[in-house]
Amino acid sequence: MHDKWLWWRDGVIYQIYPRSYSDSNGDGMGDLNGIRSRLAYLQDLGVDAIWLSPVYPSPDKDFGYDVSDYTGIDPRYGTLKDFDNLVKEAHQRDVRIIMDLVLNHTSDQHPWFKESRSSRDNPFRDWYLWRPAKPDGSPPNNWQSVFGGGGWKFDPQTGEYYFHMFLPEQPDVNWRHPAVRQAMLGVFRFWLERGVDGFRLDVFNGYFKDAELKDNPARFGLRAFDRQFHIHDTDQPEMIPLLNEIRALLDAYPDRYMVGETFLATPQKAIRYIGNTKAHAAFNFNFTGQPWHAGKMRSAILEWEGLNGKEGWPNYVLNNHDTRRSASRYHFDEADLRGKTAALLLLTLRGTPFLYYGEEIGMRDIALKRSEIMDPPGKLYWPIYQGRDGCRSPMQWDTSAQAGFSRSRPWLKLHPGFHDRNVAIQQANADSLLNFYKKMLQLRRQHPALHRGSMEMLKEIPAGLLAYIRADMQERILIAINFSRSKRNCLLPAGEPVSVLLDTMPAWPAQLDGSGHLQLRGGQGVALLLHGGD
Ligand code: NOJ
Repeated sequence: MHDKWLWWRDGVIYQIYPRSYSDSNGDGMGDLNGIRSRLAYLQDLGVDAIWLSPVYPSPDKDFGYDVSDYTGIDPRYGTLKDFDNLVKEAHQRDVRIIMDLVLNHTSDQHPWFKESRSSRDNPFRDWYLWRPAKPDGSPPNNWQSVFGGGGWKFDPQTGEYYFHMFLPEQPDVNWRHPAVRQAMLGVFRFWLERGVDGFRLDVFNGYFKDAELKDNPARFGLRAFDRQFHIHDTDQPEMIPLLNEIRALLDAYPDRYMVGETFLATPQKAIRYIGNTKAHAAFNFNFTGQPWHAGKMRSAILEWEGLNGKEGWPNYVLNNHDTRRSASRYHFDEADLRGKTAALLLLTLRGTPFLYYGEEIGMRDIALKRSEIMDPPGKLYWPIYQGRDGCRSPMQWDTSAQAGFSRSRPWLKLHPGFHDRNVAIQQANADSLLNFYKKMLQLRRQHPALHRGSMEMLKEIPAGLLAYIRADMQERILIAINFSRSKRNCLLPAGEPVSVLLDTMPAWPAQLDGSGHLQLRGGQGVALLLHGGD
């Protein structure tokens, strides 16, 4: 077990979707100065780092994930000076900054692609994946786009196809080209030199494609994209040496960090990319995909724990900008009792927790009419898939006209329930979800067993319960969560008197009887300090 506090391992990371966080200039879109004005809130909440979804210049075909300049700030978000101010002030408050690097593809408006598509002999031609049609005019291979349709787009100007894993306006770059590699490493350097503490790498395991562009084999699936095993368009062996090189670059600066977004992630796939010479972390979205079920959560946790082993360091996430919010997915009750239980779980597992803005007040997804959908896959697949706008609505700060987010109409509609669910209201209510998150974050920081201790799952417990012990040399803390709707009894580890650190239902505290039994109501969760061994 480690003894030195390390922000990315022992701390908590909070994702901000900048266009929806806080609008300082009244254009209806969040911006960097808006985020800066909320740093006191974030510090008070108790998070250690913020990850900013992309703030680079972008035509916004995929809302910032189509970048047209990797070393600039989109004027709608502010300027490089504003960015520097944000970094400076965040650091003064002991909050680190993680940038989102979208390096699998650029925007089609990036100068590199404009050059590349201008002629077949342009020096930038090979910076992207251009190929001639097959003799019958069809695309070079069977690869598909995740956002729908084939992955190859024919460009009449030069009579060839280029590959795009996402939208046609997001052409994939050719990472095998030495100049591309150098340019991209330069992007890391640029932000490191500006004081950035870490990076989230968008679809990093898609950077390399099979050199011969072999067809993917077929499998059963609904959409064309799912009807293939993605063995040739992702996860190529060249990614490991590249990660080694990026890691060496990061390690030349103190305590820098990278977390990869493992595309089409499975835990087994994600773990391959993590290590002392690779990424510090890679997302495993298996946890996010679990239903509200003790046994399923437990299996997902044990699998990830097992893969990480004693040396590896897991991470957990319940929400992000691509997924339905946990409050909607898990049908949180109005009082957010389930929300508190989910927070207790996320913030006491062994590993780095990632929060997503608004999670701390239990924001729900917004419902959109077809005409209101903005997200490209939502437009395409409506009504089967309604896109990702639902989890991207503006942050609900207070009860004022635009929820304190903006002076004018927000770019995406507010949740209609913001009058009853916002930061100001929850700050004033000692029993709110927000105050529960704060207490939980404080507790996590105060007790090293919770942020860096070992974790042991209790086995012989009734169905519906999840219980584990976090321990270091000083303390043992038991977490018990009742996922079921009815009461459950749990026999505590033999003969250990306890004190309660936190209860999700303080009005009906969990009962402890003389025979070592803990009784939890349906949905209740507790953190107990075990005194055994004193
Ligand atoms: C993953 C990002 O999380 C998602 O929002 C984006 O659409 C794709 N990568 C493409 O960049």
